[in-house]
Amino acid sequence: MSWFTKTFSSTIGRKVLVAVTGLFLISFLVVHLVGNLQLFKDDGGNAFNVYSHFMGTNPIIRTMEIVLVVGFLLHIYEALVLTRRNKNVRPVAYAYNRPEDNSNWSSRNMGLLGTVILVFLIVHLWNFFVPARFGGLDGVVVDNVQYDNLYIRVVESFHIWWYVVLYVVAQIALGYHLYHGFQSAFQTLGLNHKKYTPAIQMFGAFFSVVVPGAFAAMPLYFFIQHILN
Ligand code: HEM
Repeated sequence: MSWFTKTFSSTIGRKVLVAVTGLFLISFLVVHLVGNLQLFKDDGGNAFNVYSHFMGTNPIIRTMEIVLVVGFLLHIYEALVLTRRNKNVRPVAYAYNRPEDNSNWSSRNMGLLGTVILVFLIVHLWNFFVPARFGGLDGVVVDNVQYDNLYIRVVESFHIWWYVVLYVVAQIALGYHLYHGFQSAFQTLGLNHKKYTPAIQMFGAFFSVVVPGAFAAMPLYFFIQHILN
């Protein structure tokens, strides 16, 4: 077995992969959130449609999309292998076991939280990403240029109540997942420091509330606007 295969099939090697891909996915979330904030612009979706067109045609972004898919797949696969390995180490549970005494809820339910996020992602990509890349959207003209009207697809989706519920529930799951994942990633990478660790933990907690909160605000905003009109 080569050094590479040996390192990345060991428990610590896999943990490092989950941590690094997790931090990469977190950076994607920030970019995605900043771009999507254009949905709140009161311009009939022009800025959002122009931005989406740029994301769909820029070769650097298109290459990063492939890295993103690989990152997602690695993150999920390695996390699943680690969870199975942990269970196999102790197939018979301790007779006395009160995990709530020494771990928090999110750390014990990363698999469940990840599954909710995965279901959300499948619906999300099917409804937005697939038509954006493979066609099926209406056109709109902005400054004499024809664009796909992804904005109207987003707004109309967020008029459907169960869609809004799915998004909000998924963002709650994402918040808990990020809360544990952030701390866990720094611990795995050995980035522990007496002075900086509390600040990193505080930033992680802040991030886990603000980012999913801002994502959840989008479906809620368009749904509330719809029922008030
Ligand atoms: C609730 C607010 C959100 C809105 C309005 C939104 C909107 C969109 C849209 C319109 C696309 C297609 C963009 C394009 O292809 O040009 C997209 C793609 C995508 N979204 Fe979201 N999204 C939201 C939240 C999320 C969250 C929370 C995640 C991850 C947990 C996520 C992950 C992705 C991924 C992986 C893609 C495909 C890659 C890409 O196109 O950049 N989205 N989203």
